[in-house]
Amino acid sequence: MADTKKIAVIAGDGIGPEVVAEAIKVMKKTEELYGLSFEFEHGLFGGIAIDEKGTPLPQETLDMCKAADAVLLGAVGGPKWDNNPKELRPETGLLGIRKALGLFSNIRPAKIFDCLKDASTLKPEVLEGTDLIVVRELTGGIYFGDKFRREGANGEEAVDTCVYNVHEVERIVRQAFEIARTRRKKLASVDKANVLETSRLWREVVNRIAPEYPDVELEHVLVDNCAMQLLRRPASFDVIVTENMFGDILSDEAAMLTGSIGMLSSASLGEGAFGLYEPVHGSAPDIAGQGIANPIATILSVALMYRLTFGYHEAAQSIEDAVASVLDAGHRTADIATDRSKAVGTQQMGDLIVAAMK
Ligand code: IPM
Ligand code: MG
Repeated sequence: MADTKKIAVIAGDGIGPEVVAEAIKVMKKTEELYGLSFEFEHGLFGGIAIDEKGTPLPQETLDMCKAADAVLLGAVGGPKWDNNPKELRPETGLLGIRKALGLFSNIRPAKIFDCLKDASTLKPEVLEGTDLIVVRELTGGIYFGDKFRREGANGEEAVDTCVYNVHEVERIVRQAFEIARTRRKKLASVDKANVLETSRLWREVVNRIAPEYPDVELEHVLVDNCAMQLLRRPASFDVIVTENMFGDILSDEAAMLTGSIGMLSSASLGEGAFGLYEPVHGSAPDIAGQGIANPIATILSVALMYRLTFGYHEAAQSIEDAVASVLDAGHRTADIATDRSKAVGTQQMGDLIVAAMK
């Protein structure tokens, strides 16, 4: 039996608790099948933490995450907290946890599931073979630079500053090169070097590191052009690496190529094996509590956790294969169903996946 791994579970808001429950079910099944062992600890985070503790990221939740081997996050946010002041917004908790845990890298794979090709708004022939990963810098740039209001010549002004240093660029770019090495060996570095100083620094650092990875083919793409090329030639991308805000935008675009945001997993990583894993989709307050949310993105985030944090590749493969076989058998949650009257619910989808695991 493997060592017991501590998992900090922060289910969060909206559909978070529903999808996380199914992911835990899958993890328990892998304990049985592969002799793995997990200890789950639950903490408050996001809107629910604002309601119960008066802050989106309570210290005890942060301590629990720091003491864990990995974090499983559901989703945070909802209309209830949208008009709150900044310190009392769920998003502030999310940025805070990324920074406090040193999670400088966000990895979002966007891969077309063959049997869901029709879910995309793009033509199947354009999508054919699309399988890319966006590697987004997560703890720098305009998200974390100084922000303030001031009186200017024309009245009140708002300022957000974008800052990057060489170290921050180096570590994320190296990680992206390493990932590209394990895949099709193509890296697109995305910036706005024709305008922004931070992008010029970014590009210099990429060019300095590139000779260490002669086996990886590098292209520099300006962010506006990248937004276009993602729609025109998505299959030509392998790994895309970019700064925080560009990555926020491009990863949503890449997710939509697949047409099934309910299927996409993500990992946020730092220097070591520790990581935070969460579905790409949000808290979907409109369908919360109805038992109809798609748990697959969270379940696939567990597979990502097994691979990237624990090296449990066999168990990860068994989860991914089970998801594929359940989809191939025609089972769909409402978000990906062509005939919604035949859709299965959240728990039923979880049960089907557990039953398909070998
Ligand atoms: C994401 C989200 C967050 C971000 C928001 C909720 C703060 O859009 O994880 O991509 O912008 O990073
Ligand atoms: Mg986003």
